[in-house]
Amino acid sequence: MLTNNISYGKQSINDSDIEAVIDVLKSERLTQGSKVDEFEEALAKYCGSKYAVAVSSGTSALHLAYQVLGLSVGDEIITSPITFAATTNAALYLGASAKFVDIVSSTVLMDNDKIEESITNKTKIIVPVHFAGLASDMVEISNIATKHNLKVVEDAAHALGSRYYNGKKVGCCDCSDMTVFSFHPVKSITTGEGGAITTNSKELYDKLKILRSHGMVRDSADYKYISSVPYYHEMQYLGYNYRMTDIQAALGISQLKRLDQFVKRRNLISNFYRITFLGDNNIKPLENLDGRYNSYHLFVMLLDDIDKRNKLISYLESKKISTQIHYMPVYKHPYYIDKGYSITLTNAEDYYSRCVSLPIYPAMDENEVKFITDCIKEFISS
Ligand SMILES: Cc1ncc(COP(=O)(O)O)c(C=O)c1O
Repeated sequence: MLTNNISYGKQSINDSDIEAVIDVLKSERLTQGSKVDEFEEALAKYCGSKYAVAVSSGTSALHLAYQVLGLSVGDEIITSPITFAATTNAALYLGASAKFVDIVSSTVLMDNDKIEESITNKTKIIVPVHFAGLASDMVEISNIATKHNLKVVEDAAHALGSRYYNGKKVGCCDCSDMTVFSFHPVKSITTGEGGAITTNSKELYDKLKILRSHGMVRDSADYKYISSVPYYHEMQYLGYNYRMTDIQAALGISQLKRLDQFVKRRNLISNFYRITFLGDNNIKPLENLDGRYNSYHLFVMLLDDIDKRNKLISYLESKKISTQIHYMPVYKHPYYIDKGYSITLTNAEDYYSRCVSLPIYPAMDENEVKFITDCIKEFISS
């Protein structure tokens, strides 16, 4: 028995991260200084995109991304039901709604073959979710979007550090208008709370930056009025305070340097889980598609039925091992039901009844992984 609780996911903070944050705390500017620009440049470089905009959360990143694409009242986005509610909540903020497309059971990615039948004349954006870190087939999605004149926003909250099957990094935006990331502590890297949007469009980039900070325009070339008043600037849009602080950005810069190490470690842990349960029909991992480098934000296993899954969770809890369920289909949340979402998607429902996310984070050591797999084996054989 290990003495400490094992959580399903957590951050990995070292002395360099702490020093980076302390340096900002000792500096003149805690926010709106140079660190945010530096983080954005480093993130865009890492992903292979032209631009990155750092914001206060993955949710605010989604909200801004949808808004700069013009999503508004009566419009629809198309996405997966197996995602965190923020993916669709951000569309609801703008008066739009969500059309949920069932998942492929083996990968839990939205079934691309079912996207076209869900498109209506209200559809504006397709939002693939790179679930658990596995990149969606973006060439297929981009072809559908082009054919129907739709925009694409990748929800890559789980997938910083992942690669598509052509080896390019998630976030390069080769096949999308924008990619959205989250830096919550359980994600690939953390800034405490935080998020970002990458894009190759200068026009979208400029709009994102303006909306992130109250819709204020600070470039005199873009002013509507001519003014000689010192410190003059104009609010031209209804924007937000979705800024990331320099404290957060400094942590992000430091964390980004270790991202590849983190993802490597997550891959080692997931390989250990896979090898341990290879050929075991009682518990099966989600499939990792050939050639797609997976950041393994989550490691999800499927049990035979809800009863076994729930009993395994309780058993692991008794051993101080926390697990999670990612996620209840979004349309089942009471808020969505009250809004009139009354659908049942078979694969999503089946997945939700049998899934469990096992602990995975870079700082997990061999003893912990072995302890978890031993406990699961004990449960299976009991
Ligand atoms: C798929 C997905 N999208 C969006 C978000 C929202 O990110 P944040 O928590 O940074 O607002 C999350 C967060 O867990 C997520 O998992």
